[in-house]
Amino acid sequence: MKLLVTGGAGFIGSNFVHHVLDTTDHSVVVLDKLTYAGNRASLDGLPADRFELVVGDITDAALVDVLVGDADAVVHYAAESHNDNSLHDPRPFLDTNIIGTYTLIEAARKHGTRFHHISTDEVYGDLELDDPNRFTEQTPYNPSSPYSSTKAGSDLLVRAWVRSFGLQATISNCSNNYGPYQHVEKFIPRQITNVLDGVRPKLYGAGQNVRDWIHANDHSSAVLTILDKGVIGETYLIGADGEQDNKTVVETILELLGQPRDAYDHVTDRAGHDLRYAIDSTKLRTELGWRPAFQDFRAGLEDTIAWYRDHQAWWRPQKAATEARYQEQGQA
Ligand SMILES: NC(=O)c1ccc[n+]([C@@H]2O[C@H](COP(=O)([O-])OP(=O)(O)OC[C@H]3O[C@@H](n4cnc5c(N)ncnc54)[C@H](O)[C@@H]3O)[C@@H](O)[C@H]2O)c1
Repeated sequence: MKLLVTGGAGFIGSNFVHHVLDTTDHSVVVLDKLTYAGNRASLDGLPADRFELVVGDITDAALVDVLVGDADAVVHYAAESHNDNSLHDPRPFLDTNIIGTYTLIEAARKHGTRFHHISTDEVYGDLELDDPNRFTEQTPYNPSSPYSSTKAGSDLLVRAWVRSFGLQATISNCSNNYGPYQHVEKFIPRQITNVLDGVRPKLYGAGQNVRDWIHANDHSSAVLTILDKGVIGETYLIGADGEQDNKTVVETILELLGQPRDAYDHVTDRAGHDLRYAIDSTKLRTELGWRPAFQDFRAGLEDTIAWYRDHQAWWRPQKAATEARYQEQGQA
């Protein structure tokens, strides 16, 4: 198959491209605008006969029409993805997440191209810390931020295009990812690179907020499974039973880097900060037979720390500008 992967120079998209080229015979065309979040270097060393990067915008209907028409399937990762940025400047989130998705599904409908839409568990809002429930495919949408509301909107567009126009689409909503190639603005890489730089990590509020962590490789294998065996029109939740509160994550990073577990500072909490996300991925596991490979969060974190220690040339160019942006936003 020839896959068109949007946002393939970003964190999860680039992990997916590496995974596909390593484990299948598919070829890949990446369409990526290379915003501040996209990084050409994340795609270095891929085989030229099976891989191509097209720099462009998913809202560019003429370009999208050609690329979608030429692909056997589209896997749509491209998005504005950072909650903090969405609180300070929501407009790019509407343009890319809503109009960009609309542009892609119009082209996929025209050409009859198989489409897989990547989304987040954040569309479901949050759970109380002591709630015994987890999100399932039946949980009502209740997004909190401009980021999650635009992702929810894009999911609903895809569902409507399936129902109204017979779009050959599936959707997945995944929990929080960690692993290589994640921008240093995000929680885990920001803490790791701060400690590597001798700077004390920053924790929003008391750090009780719980996220359900999954290694990006497991997200990739789940998406390939859905592309292969997923039922058109269906939504699949992707998660690896990795619930951890933010305080424990920071303390574990410090410990794994040989620092005292309490060597961090608290900063003002994010506005509207979701308390807890938790995914029930029973449907994906029982109906499509998927299993995560990384079951041990601490071991996965150790691998991720080693990657950031060994790939300083990849993240250093972004570090100072990222911290300056946090400073401007009052979250230094
Ligand atoms: N990071 C997570 O934990 C997580 C969890 C679940 C789902 N998701 C979803 O996975 C997808 C990828 O997330 P990520 O963390 O890799 O994001 P990211 O910000 O690291 O990457 C996004 C990529 O999209 C590109 N892009 C942005 N706007 C574009 C446009 N208009 N046209 C073309 N390319 C554009 C960027 O250049 C970048 O390479 C998103 O749809 C996100 O909602 C992320």
